[in-house]
Amino acid sequence: MRNPVTYQQEHSQGASERTPTALAVPTLRECEVLQWDSAIAKSRGVYGFDSLDPRSRSFNMIRAKIHELRTQRGWRLFGVLSATPKVGKSFITFNVAAALSRDPRFNTTAVDLDLRRASLTEVLGVDPPVSIRAFLEERPGASMPTAYALDGERLVILPTTAGPIRSAELLAGPRAQALLRSFRATSENSLFMVDLPPVFANDDAVTTMAQLDGYIVVAEEGRTTTREVKDVIGLLGAQRLAGVILNKYQGGIVSEGYGFDSYYGAGYYFEPPAVDS
Ligand SMILES: Nc1ncnc2c1ncn2[C@@H]1O[C@H](COP(=O)(O)OP(=O)(O)OP(=O)(O)O)[C@@H](O)[C@H]1O
Ligand SMILES: [Mg+2]
Repeated sequence: MRNPVTYQQEHSQGASERTPTALAVPTLRECEVLQWDSAIAKSRGVYGFDSLDPRSRSFNMIRAKIHELRTQRGWRLFGVLSATPKVGKSFITFNVAAALSRDPRFNTTAVDLDLRRASLTEVLGVDPPVSIRAFLEERPGASMPTAYALDGERLVILPTTAGPIRSAELLAGPRAQALLRSFRATSENSLFMVDLPPVFANDDAVTTMAQLDGYIVVAEEGRTTTREVKDVIGLLGAQRLAGVILNKYQGGIVSEGYGFDSYYGAGYYFEPPAVDS
């Protein structure tokens, strides 16, 4: 694998404060490939890769919205966040990224920047040698986060490891900024789905969103209130709202007689306002 990082020693900084100046997002060929098939995917709640699975439908609809925003506004870097924990952000991030990756015209990367919970490692069943967290912490040898691909699929995945962390400082630091700039520097056909923590848990989502294009708010039926969704939009601004996803709703696919025990609907219920509104 090529070494994608070069460093510039700034005159007043010590070795631990070196700033990456050029960082390249790994290509599919540079990823560690994990064993993967349809049965593994479904056992881990991943339906977005399989267009024949009715559970992938809602992710295909969200994919269409993302492409619309890409075409109309040039948005390529999407953050997925919520007001409160456990509403399905990681589930949505990975499944939408999976649905996006099925289109061979685009390069899709799923990124875990929820540094405290870090659930993409669980979906993949890995303990990355260099997690995003290790990279941001400038651990020795951690010059680029380990990137994974799944056998037979076209998705690049950058996971992190969970744990207590000075996440706000790290996400505002030079390494995080370099990583986010590397996303921006990719070609026009590259799309990024970034899993973020709940907005009101700490500053992390707001800090990271400063470098992304649009945000998707995940709301859980019966749990997230309209007030909470409005507060998130109030904090981040309506201009960059990519949409709101109502997750875990009863009805829809569940009531269509498919009999999926562990799947609940996920769908868009809110259109982003026009840019000039
Ligand atoms: N529509 C759905 N159908 C079935 N299971 C779901 C659905 N949405 C989420 N889940 C499951 O609910 C659990 C919580 O979801 P998830 O981890 O994605 O939430 P989160 O918002 O990322 O949580 P956290 O705030 O801890 O990061 C997971 O086990 C996930 O697989
Ligand atoms: Mg999560």
